[in-house]
Amino acid sequence: MSIHTPKTDKKITLGTIAGMKGIEPVTMVTAYDALFAQLFDGEVEMILVGDSLNMSFLGKEDTLSATMDQMIYHTQAVCNGAKHACIVFDMPFGSYITPETALRNAVRVYAQTCAQAVKIEGGKEKASTVKILSDNGIAVVAHIGLMPQHVRSEGGYKVRGKSEADIASLLEDALALEAAGAAIILVEGVLPEAAKQITEAVKVPTIGIGAGNATDGQVLVWSDMFGFFEAFKPKFVKRYCQGAKEVREGLEQYVNEVKSRAFPDGEHTY
Ligand code: KIV
Repeated sequence: MSIHTPKTDKKITLGTIAGMKGIEPVTMVTAYDALFAQLFDGEVEMILVGDSLNMSFLGKEDTLSATMDQMIYHTQAVCNGAKHACIVFDMPFGSYITPETALRNAVRVYAQTCAQAVKIEGGKEKASTVKILSDNGIAVVAHIGLMPQHVRSEGGYKVRGKSEADIASLLEDALALEAAGAAIILVEGVLPEAAKQITEAVKVPTIGIGAGNATDGQVLVWSDMFGFFEAFKPKFVKRYCQGAKEVREGLEQYVNEVKSRAFPDGEHTY
């Protein structure tokens, strides 16, 4: 018997997500276009239009060159496909360098897309940014722990929470961001014990990625979890299907049938 009840016909709000803490794990996946957003809509509570699209969609080495225009374009597409899921817009690198820049850009997100919240990477140093956004009616998902937008400055993707001091620092981040008004804390790439302590310390929901199973919810990048992104597979990614393999097999069959003139056959001809 499944505990999953698919297909809601209600719009999921941030209030819905807040009410799930301690009751039912929140499911979130990324989407970058209307087709996949529609597939995921009603199955997961939340869709993140992640700047990971810069890697898995655009083929770049990291997320850092994603732009506001690009993120808005993809979020508009996701909004066209998903009518029920709570949609989160990932603020790209450089779009929230000061609280005022963040506010200007986030206002644009609310004006031009259906996103219900914006996500920013950063710890306690971003508390003033979270505050100005939430004080102005913009909901924030605060992304702490391993922050992909720091990959160049830190020289790689570094797992966090390996020492008592680092766990204490992550806890300070989470509490400062919650106090500043963050609606959700997204915890990436931290050891499970650290994620558990953060989840227990804050009243808002935590969503984990590579952070064990004690968080209030989980998020995965769709192209990772469905086996389309094959360049590398982080340890925390579980592939729920072999997308790239299946597309390759289908494509091979198509090519063979065109070459042999088996396609189009009578059934597929006017
Ligand atoms: O951009 C993204 O997809 C993300 C997830 C890894 C959380 O930030």
